[in-house]
Amino acid sequence: MEIRFLGHAAFELSHDGVTVLIDPFLTGNPKAAVSADEVAADAILLTHGHGDHLGDAVAIAKRTGASVVAIVELASELRADGLTDVHDPNLGGTVSLGWGSVKLVPAWHTSTTPKGIVSTPAGLIVEFGGSTIYHLGDTALFGDLELIGRRHAIDVALIPIGGYYTMDRHDAVEAARMIGARQVIPCHYDTFPPIVTDAQAFAAEVETSTASEVIVLAPGERHVP
Ligand code: NI
Ligand code: MN
Repeated sequence: MEIRFLGHAAFELSHDGVTVLIDPFLTGNPKAAVSADEVAADAILLTHGHGDHLGDAVAIAKRTGASVVAIVELASELRADGLTDVHDPNLGGTVSLGWGSVKLVPAWHTSTTPKGIVSTPAGLIVEFGGSTIYHLGDTALFGDLELIGRRHAIDVALIPIGGYYTMDRHDAVEAARMIGARQVIPCHYDTFPPIVTDAQAFAAEVETSTASEVIVLAPGERHVP
């Protein structure tokens, strides 16, 4: 299984000819590594409805025929936008697809789509290609990260570190400690001025205070867990 960082909170997971996108915000993303009309997708997984996560999901799904997984209220909006292959779980629920599965777990944040639909944000536990990937979505630091880390053996945690809209890099060190992932990839930083931060300092602090290895990816870079 290979992870490619597409910039901001967007990731591409690929294995055995299957491509899974998470939060494909590409158009208007100053850090986007690819354009929305060139990326492949068999599935698109969404943490929440903010524009910097929902992004190009509808356009990519229409072009590729990808299945989309999003929490129920957001899924309803996607159906109203013309998508038909939409899965609509709620927190705690798992959707199994041919390539693997995705489970929605809590995240402390807000979520309103550009069209104004309000829903609850989520983190995503993705089982794919023999690896367990935890995309935290946008979230503040909260104690149940420890519970999620106890419940799931996480190979790679994708953790927001930019602050302002999410936890900052200092809170993210504690999040990494609670989750206990084998590896950590920071995201949701340096895209816009309010979320500029020092990813290398985050990496150094996590590696001195936890057992997790940190991989800092520039947009477009790939990592095999
Ligand atoms: Ni958000
Ligand atoms: Mn965001």
